[in-house]
Amino acid sequence: MRKAIIAAAIIAIVSSCATPAGNTVTSPDGGLKVTVDAPDGVLQYTVVKDGDTIVAPSRLGFELMGGNVLGIHTEVLEVTHSKADEKWETVWGEQRIIRDRHSGAVFHTAWLDIEVRVFDDGLGFRYIFPESLGNIAIKDELTEFRFTRADHTAWWLPESVPYYESYADHTTFDKIDCAHTPLTITGADGRFYTIHEAALLDFAKMNLVPTDAQTLKADLVKWSDGTAVYVSDTRVTPWRTLLVTDRAGGLVESRVMLNLNEPCKIEDTSWIKPGKYIGIWWILHKFLYTWYYDPATPEGHGATTERTMRYIDFAADNNIQGVLVEGWNLGWNGDWTRLPAAFSFTQAYPDYDFDKIMKYAASKGVQMIIHNETAADTENYFAQIDDAYALYQSYGMHYVKTGNVNVLMDGREAHDGQYGVNKLHWTVEKAAQYQICIDEHEPCIPTGVCRTWPNLMTGEAIRGQEHDAWEVDGGNKPEHQTVVPFIRGLAGPMDYTFGTFDFSNPANPQCRTRTTVAKQLAEYVVIYSPLQMANDDPAAYEGVKAFDFIRDVPTDWEQTKVIDAVIGDYIVTARQERGGSDWFLGAITDENARQLSVPLSFLGKGRWLAQIYADAPDASYENNPTAVEYSEREVSSKDVLDLRLATSGGCAIRFIKR
Ligand code: NOJ
Repeated sequence: MRKAIIAAAIIAIVSSCATPAGNTVTSPDGGLKVTVDAPDGVLQYTVVKDGDTIVAPSRLGFELMGGNVLGIHTEVLEVTHSKADEKWETVWGEQRIIRDRHSGAVFHTAWLDIEVRVFDDGLGFRYIFPESLGNIAIKDELTEFRFTRADHTAWWLPESVPYYESYADHTTFDKIDCAHTPLTITGADGRFYTIHEAALLDFAKMNLVPTDAQTLKADLVKWSDGTAVYVSDTRVTPWRTLLVTDRAGGLVESRVMLNLNEPCKIEDTSWIKPGKYIGIWWILHKFLYTWYYDPATPEGHGATTERTMRYIDFAADNNIQGVLVEGWNLGWNGDWTRLPAAFSFTQAYPDYDFDKIMKYAASKGVQMIIHNETAADTENYFAQIDDAYALYQSYGMHYVKTGNVNVLMDGREAHDGQYGVNKLHWTVEKAAQYQICIDEHEPCIPTGVCRTWPNLMTGEAIRGQEHDAWEVDGGNKPEHQTVVPFIRGLAGPMDYTFGTFDFSNPANPQCRTRTTVAKQLAEYVVIYSPLQMANDDPAAYEGVKAFDFIRDVPTDWEQTKVIDAVIGDYIVTARQERGGSDWFLGAITDENARQLSVPLSFLGKGRWLAQIYADAPDASYENNPTAVEYSEREVSSKDVLDLRLATSGGCAIRFIKR
């Protein structure tokens, strides 16, 4: 394995009987403590941070189909403690070297084990079903998060909106109906908390419902037959995670979720490369061209050989590694959401010369990102997947964008129930066999499985920029991108697809991207993905100075620091290029213009050239989004930069070592 553990693990295992002290796991820095016990026979856990109880005794366990309950009439029989301190190298990511330092314990009860890991900035726990329990069917997970204050507020995505494509609500717990995770709490105690999960495999996704003003309870996505999870071969649940930090930015910098996933299972990862892409995509969402080919009006079809080759040329000339083409393959005519079996993943429309395009892209060193919209019909997709992936691989192509439009997979099961989780994951492992990286649209929310399968590079599960082309509310509201890093972003890479320079939208004039261009640039730093799109038609970039930033910005990072942030107002993020010395900074704001003072203490020693792409004084997202002012100045780590952001504006900076 390329990414071997690079520092020796220090692991100690100590076994103890269940004593009060033995029931507590304390983080390496001593600040965070988790206690698992079973007073009166009811299994529960409690969390204390710096002496404050932050999660009061909260239920653990399951109700099974048929009525039996795991986690009552029980006791903790034995506790096995452990410690770990190791470093590992990511294949790609926001941080190259990650330290996994935690204290752990497994709490054994008669029918259920609980494994806990406590880090300095958060914790995870999961359930282990002993083999002696046999196969079981779960009806309900009883896990609670019983916070100690009713005046905490949560940023949450409503479960009712398909594919996670909604704005976040910001409310007290009692206003939540059913929320997706990550759910982020701005604590009335000044702390920040995020509930999510890690390593969701062969299980159902966990949503959260309030049971009183300060308690959130797990609510598993069900199969169509009402069962939550069938437990057979996989005997562990995903980790339930709680981040606890003093700064909002600490949530973004936390690596708890990745540390709780298994190490990389792909031996040779040399073909898994982050990068940028353009695509025959935005012109489709703006309804300027169609996905389908109509012989009566062939000029309306987007994915033509000639246009694709033009995009390939532009990519090759501008440090863009990939070209996405949608609507190249048979199956888009008519209502394709109702006719998913019509999709072919190997046969192209007559005006798209597949073989010529693949060979041309390869000759130019450009990767084609091959679109496979399945309309959530896995039967049709899996019947073709080997032929399709083998075909793409034969041209040296390593990227597929999958689509799963349709709220039920195969017409019957949720994307994030156990069925959907397994089908989506099967595709990732299949793709790895053919050295293919996946950009997964309409997915299940990510949970860090990309550590184990780094060919799962990015995905949607977000109200991304496509909504700026056609959404009835006129496009994403300016606050949205300042919230995204603190909810969806904590689950993993986001294929948000920014890069708009041309704000016209003739087919839907009531709708457009509601940011400035400088904010579009800054989003390449703030909103993380190892695959980042430059969504606009290349013609919009020709001769525009601001495009230099997109050309220069990397998508793979040595380290990441959130310099300053108020969730829903603004965020300033700095990232250092992996394998290089340059730093990149992105600052974005909501609908309010604002001045920010940014200390450059993250820069190393010496002098740096700052290439600054800022909102011009007369820029505003409503009236003058394209006014970008470019300037250069020499700076050092002692300097503080004053940034002036327009309404829904931003600032993007590259720092080059002198
Ligand atoms: C929705 C996806 O999010 C979008 O990127 C894609 O263009 C369409 N489905 C068509 O597959």
